[in-house]
Amino acid sequence: MNIAVLCSGSGTNLQVIIDKVASGYIPARIALVVSDRANAFALERAKKAGIETLVLDKKDFKSREDFDKKLMESLDNKNVGLVVLAGFMRLLGPRFIEKYRNRIINVHPALLPSFKGAHGIKDSLDHGVKVTGVTVHFVDEKLDNGPVIAQAALEIRDGDTEESLLERVHKEEHRLYPEAVKLFVEGRLKIEGRKVRVI
Ligand code: GAR
Repeated sequence: MNIAVLCSGSGTNLQVIIDKVASGYIPARIALVVSDRANAFALERAKKAGIETLVLDKKDFKSREDFDKKLMESLDNKNVGLVVLAGFMRLLGPRFIEKYRNRIINVHPALLPSFKGAHGIKDSLDHGVKVTGVTVHFVDEKLDNGPVIAQAALEIRDGDTEESLLERVHKEEHRLYPEAVKLFVEGRLKIEGRKVRVI
């Protein structure tokens, strides 16, 4: 199966997926890495691994529809079977979601449905919750809403900062996300309404 990974930032999750594909743990090929930011370090990681990259800067598109159209064309050309969002900080429009329904997954740095959005870690700290975590989920039209594939909980410690919490969040993401990608690629995730069963 061909995978596309969409990123906006440092790409540590991308790196783990690259490594797990290289080791054979994930039986798939990363056909394309897309970033909406030209300076995302994720692009360097992809290039180093010899993976094709594409930058789609929103400044170059008249509308979200045009952006999504170009993205769809690029993924179609690569015959992509799974779209992996790894720190991709842009919302995908309904046409994209419809086209790739049940074939887009995301990792979020909180226990959804708590602390949706772009600042999951800061929002959990600011709210003062004692437990947070990581969620891997399918993507639907609503923000951070689709069926949950996997979650892991983390305790928030006194004195935690965004940096210290991010470090533990990343550790869990780097364990959980490749596992979820593997299960999807192997055809072992079954969506039943809001529930995802591993078969
Ligand atoms: C990850 O922690 C991921 O959970 C978060 O962006 C980070 C990307 O890190 N995603 C979101 O907040 C999505 N709402 P990475 O670029 O090092 O993989």
